[in-house]
Amino acid sequence: MFITFEGIDGSGKSTQSRLLAGHLEAAGRQVVLTREPGGSPGAEEIRKLLVEGATDRWSAETEILLFTAARRDHLEKRILPALQDGQIVISDRFADSTRVYQGATRGERRAMVDSLHAQMIGTEPDLTLIIDMDPDAALERGLARGSGEDRFEEFGAEFQHRLRAGFLALAEEEPARCMIINGNRPADEVGAEVQALVLSRLA
Ligand code: ADP
Ligand code: TYD
Repeated sequence: MFITFEGIDGSGKSTQSRLLAGHLEAAGRQVVLTREPGGSPGAEEIRKLLVEGATDRWSAETEILLFTAARRDHLEKRILPALQDGQIVISDRFADSTRVYQGATRGERRAMVDSLHAQMIGTEPDLTLIIDMDPDAALERGLARGSGEDRFEEFGAEFQHRLRAGFLALAEEEPARCMIINGNRPADEVGAEVQALVLSRLA
């Protein structure tokens, strides 16, 4: 089973990915916990080019190519081998992030994103958990981390509001795969709902 977490910056994806992986491992499952951009050594190198530096460092087109290159390496080296081995793969972000961040919000390039995805990636998660929350609160949480990886957070609050709308629209496009989770709650409450959803899918 291939599970992804999606949502705006600071919505709690990393926290929930970790909680779910821990829960499934405690239940005796073999789990690979990974993230994008990154997740394999080559893709982690590409990640640095994407998340650090000035907001205008790359054009929208170059950015789509870099995210897709990173994803292709991640898929070849980490995701597909683990799935073939029968493990559960949990990825903190995947292709929906490109659809929303590069496709719908930075100048309507969704067709370009979709065609590159079809040619280079061609894999969809079995289940996508979209953590939905108030963009202003999420931005505060994210920037408070002071990670030095804030290139996208630096686009500002209005951008995060457009991203939120983009994720909600995507969930409407693909209701069988995408579930919306209310992230405006304590992490353990969100985690309990996530666990229940995943366990019912696994059963
Ligand atoms: P993301 O991966 O979506 O950017 P994180 O899981 O890294 O989000 O969370 C961003 C920040 O908010 C972290 O400092 C984290 O500890 C905190 N956080 C995560 N989930 C919650 C929650 N439900 N309530 C309050 N704070 C949270
Ligand atoms: P991430 O480390 O998940 O950031 P955060 O913890 O703040 O949510 O991802 C880094 C940034 O990269 C994030 O702002 C979202 C962006 N991103 C894209 O724009 N397109 C993509 O395809 C992916 C995977 C991430």
